[in-house]
Amino acid sequence: MSLSVKHLLGIKELSKEDIELIFSTADNFKQVLQLPVKKVPSLRDTTIANIFFENSTRTRISFELAEKRLSADVINFSSSGSSVSKGESFIDTVNNILAMKVDMLVIRHRASGAPWFLKNYIDAAIINAGDGINEHPTQALLDAYSMREKFGELKGKRVAIIGDIMHSRVALSNIYCLTKLGAEVEVCGPPTLIPKYIESLGVRVSYDVKRTLQWCEIANVLRIQLERQNKPLFSTLREYSLYYGINKSLLNALQKEVLIMHPGPINRGVELASDAADSKQSIILEQVENGVAVRMAVLYLLSGRA
Ligand code: CP
Repeated sequence: MSLSVKHLLGIKELSKEDIELIFSTADNFKQVLQLPVKKVPSLRDTTIANIFFENSTRTRISFELAEKRLSADVINFSSSGSSVSKGESFIDTVNNILAMKVDMLVIRHRASGAPWFLKNYIDAAIINAGDGINEHPTQALLDAYSMREKFGELKGKRVAIIGDIMHSRVALSNIYCLTKLGAEVEVCGPPTLIPKYIESLGVRVSYDVKRTLQWCEIANVLRIQLERQNKPLFSTLREYSLYYGINKSLLNALQKEVLIMHPGPINRGVELASDAADSKQSIILEQVENGVAVRMAVLYLLSGRA
């Protein structure tokens, strides 16, 4: 079995069958990660470059670990401290890295569409590790994989995505992924942080976080992306937290247990209080753990070795 795509640019391009193949492959790699020797030779003699033009903690480390667990040779590039500061263009930087016999590229860029631009100029397989406000496909895959681990099939499951929907690539990739898998999705946040087109993607919209928490079984809570907002879209973080922040007393008031997720990094006390983030209802660190197996699956399936 193989994926219907040569690159992983976005979830929008994947079929339901592609997503299910990534999940079943990740199941196998997750078993490998429980063994004393957490390594397989699947990508031996494959060289992978992680090129990050924007900051990252989880995604960069998770990809690097996934590549090393698959026995690939790995190089890491970050734009800070590189010759980008001397005026080298994006495409020249990438071509210079590829000239050193690199087989696959994992790329994060603050410009939406950067991985799509790149695919017109290079032959190597590209994996999008987050482009601007567009997509973050491996985050959505690991989120849905973590939900599937808790609930089994996602068809009919009610998933809320709460926070800054407008500026979140995690929100868009999650919407594509969850709707392809048959989940019901509701986005919730202040009207200024929810794009007007969003209902056309087959999701419900709510501005009332208590009502949304009553409705959903899973709440994926997102950070306010202040670095992407060039004008104020709400009064203060304190006010945002008061109306849209999730805390344990809000969760305890429900007549059921909602699963709490967050892609990280968390702004504690803004979108999510510590008593909710660190509660038994939260699977935030399980998401991070699953990220390695899911990224191993994506790398393996796109390598041409599967
Ligand atoms: N979830 C996520 O993309 O985190 P990083 O920005 O730390 O990679």
